[in-house]
Amino acid sequence: MQLDKDDECILAGEQGETRQKMLELLVALGKVFGAERLVPIASAQVSGASYKTIGEYGLQWLSSLDAKAVVPAVLNPIGMPRERWQEMGVEEDFARKQQAVVAAYERLGISLECTCTPYYLRETNFGDHLAWSESSAVSYANSVIGARTNREGGPGALAAALVGKTPCYGFHLGQNRKPQIVIDVREGTRDWTIADFGALGYHVGEMVGNRIPYFTGIRPDKDQLKGLGAAMAATGAVALYHVAGVTPEAVKTQFDLAGLEKIPVEAAEIKKLFKEIPVEAVAVGCPHCSSAELGEIARLLKGKVVRMPFYVFASQGVIDKDPRTVDAIEKSGARVFADTCMVVSPVMEQYEAIMVNSGKALAYVPDMCAAVARIGSIEDCVRVGTE
Ligand code: F3S
Repeated sequence: MQLDKDDECILAGEQGETRQKMLELLVALGKVFGAERLVPIASAQVSGASYKTIGEYGLQWLSSLDAKAVVPAVLNPIGMPRERWQEMGVEEDFARKQQAVVAAYERLGISLECTCTPYYLRETNFGDHLAWSESSAVSYANSVIGARTNREGGPGALAAALVGKTPCYGFHLGQNRKPQIVIDVREGTRDWTIADFGALGYHVGEMVGNRIPYFTGIRPDKDQLKGLGAAMAATGAVALYHVAGVTPEAVKTQFDLAGLEKIPVEAAEIKKLFKEIPVEAVAVGCPHCSSAELGEIARLLKGKVVRMPFYVFASQGVIDKDPRTVDAIEKSGARVFADTCMVVSPVMEQYEAIMVNSGKALAYVPDMCAAVARIGSIEDCVRVGTE
């Protein structure tokens, strides 16, 4: 692998042991995947931030590191809101450990925004090279923005943040970004909600595995693309997809689709995922809500009172942009929490059945929270949560 003079200095230990070890890790990863060089990155997004997922061993490893991030870097959601953890019902013992994890990342110069939607906080551009780890964020960056990132593991993304580079292989290279299968959605989807696109992603992810799908027959907006990609990354391992006439690479590039397998999808296959089962709580914001989604939830909850725990998750940056909308949501009794989500917070384990509007949450809640998950539109979530 070609390394420049700076890299050689780091490998020689001239910038400290942590950075040396981190670059060794990146070089080893690059060799495994056949990278010829490292590529500078615009930003990093680091998973492995919830104490629920990394535990004591992960905390000890983080605490042993000593270097500062050299590019903008944020954390993935953690197990609780940094400020309002008591209000969410997080136990003190867990909170102390989670705070220690956050403090360890802060010492490494990682911004304490804990979110799977870093693209709402910092402009990310077409063609930017990134080292992001959360699967829905990776899918959004690659597909909706046209930036370039592999799905990094937590240590790989942290190493990239501390070195400012990542191995140049996989989705960093144009030749690996071409469609590999066509998904032809046969029904009109004009009235589809984010939940419908999430359910489509749930269904398609199961069929395509890690191949790059090229969709025809749909025209989702950006929030709907976010839900579609998150779900495909959950039931499959889709880190990049294209939508004809919508996503930037599909608009800019005349892809050759001849010879690709083509799978038709009927709306009935999607609708059967919508089951009317009783639930004990509602959780919206997987991936974290955009400003538009918060506005929609506020509009739907206006004048209503929630009858069961009703969680809304968004990044602190999005919450801070519009505190009046957040107040309007909370007036109903619903709670808008930053930094965490229905999958990584241990609080959600107290419920037997949770209603979500996300295909990704539909896939993850059963395993991560040991609860039954029901999917519905935001409108359905509000109706069920307030009736
Ligand atoms: Fe984000 Fe948590 Fe969903 S990390 S994508 S809200 S499972």
